[in-house]
Amino acid sequence: MTDLDELRVLVTGGATGIGGGITRALAGAGARVAVQYHAGGDAAAALERNGAGAVVTRAADLLSPDGPAAVAAWAADALGGLDAVVNNAGGMVDRVPFESIDDAFLDRVFDLNVRQAIKVTQAALPHLDASDRASVVFVSSISARTGGSPGSSMYSAAKAFLSTLTRSLAKELGPRGIRVNAISPGTIDTAFHQRHSTPEKLARTRDGIPLGRLGTPEDCAGPVLALLAPTLGGYMTGQVLEINGGQLLA
Ligand SMILES: NC(=O)c1ccc[n+]([C@@H]2O[C@H](COP(=O)([O-])OP(=O)(O)OC[C@H]3O[C@@H](n4cnc5c(N)ncnc54)[C@H](OP(=O)(O)O)[C@@H]3O)[C@@H](O)[C@H]2O)c1
Repeated sequence: MTDLDELRVLVTGGATGIGGGITRALAGAGARVAVQYHAGGDAAAALERNGAGAVVTRAADLLSPDGPAAVAAWAADALGGLDAVVNNAGGMVDRVPFESIDDAFLDRVFDLNVRQAIKVTQAALPHLDASDRASVVFVSSISARTGGSPGSSMYSAAKAFLSTLTRSLAKELGPRGIRVNAISPGTIDTAFHQRHSTPEKLARTRDGIPLGRLGTPEDCAGPVLALLAPTLGGYMTGQVLEINGGQLLA
């Protein structure tokens, strides 16, 4: 039913958390995946070991000036071209009250969530132009629409930037045959929340979710595969798919 077979996909931050779920699902569906990781070397090695040749990995800091372009070039080289990019790497960095935000923090949140994703995608464009199954997926967040919770203003606004960028690029790149979509996860149980949320906060969140549980990386993977597969998502572009168990309904 799907045509993910041999799809050549770069997943940034593809070893751990949501990215790890996306990589495992892609490899299981027959795609070939180039995974960039940062601190997740052990997870990357396990993916490569279990991937039966479908997964290759490389360490890179996407905050380094040349990191994003080098990752895109490596992925295209390793896979013999690129059909898709999943811009998953990102993070809140820290919870900081608005009045305490300085230039260094603002730069770090913007660079980690927005600038590197722009640069990875720009560097991948010549390869996507050469593909007849080309698409890009950004990873936004429920906080792009809700504004997030206290201390996450820059992160939430950065994710809103990605949601808007998704719509802009869908218009600009559609005529070149490149679809551009995003997923917007709700509260997904990963290391992200071990760093930024207390167990009490997570329990309160869970109690307000109609499906009665937090999300998992696997919950995010299916919609990404649908967006990437031309037979499933081939007429979808400029869309931001909400994956949140009913946490936000509007
Ligand atoms: N969890 C949620 O509830 C939630 C909700 C909405 C959106 N999101 C978004 O989903 C994406 C994945 O988050 P997650 O929940 O899976 O949390 P996570 O485990 O913290 O994932 C962050 C990812 O970004 C990578 N990364 C961090 N700094 C990097 C750097 N300097 N250079 C390259 N890669 C770097 C990490 O790679 P390593 O692990 O290899 O260091 C990791 O794969 C993020 O964009 C996050 O903002 C998460």
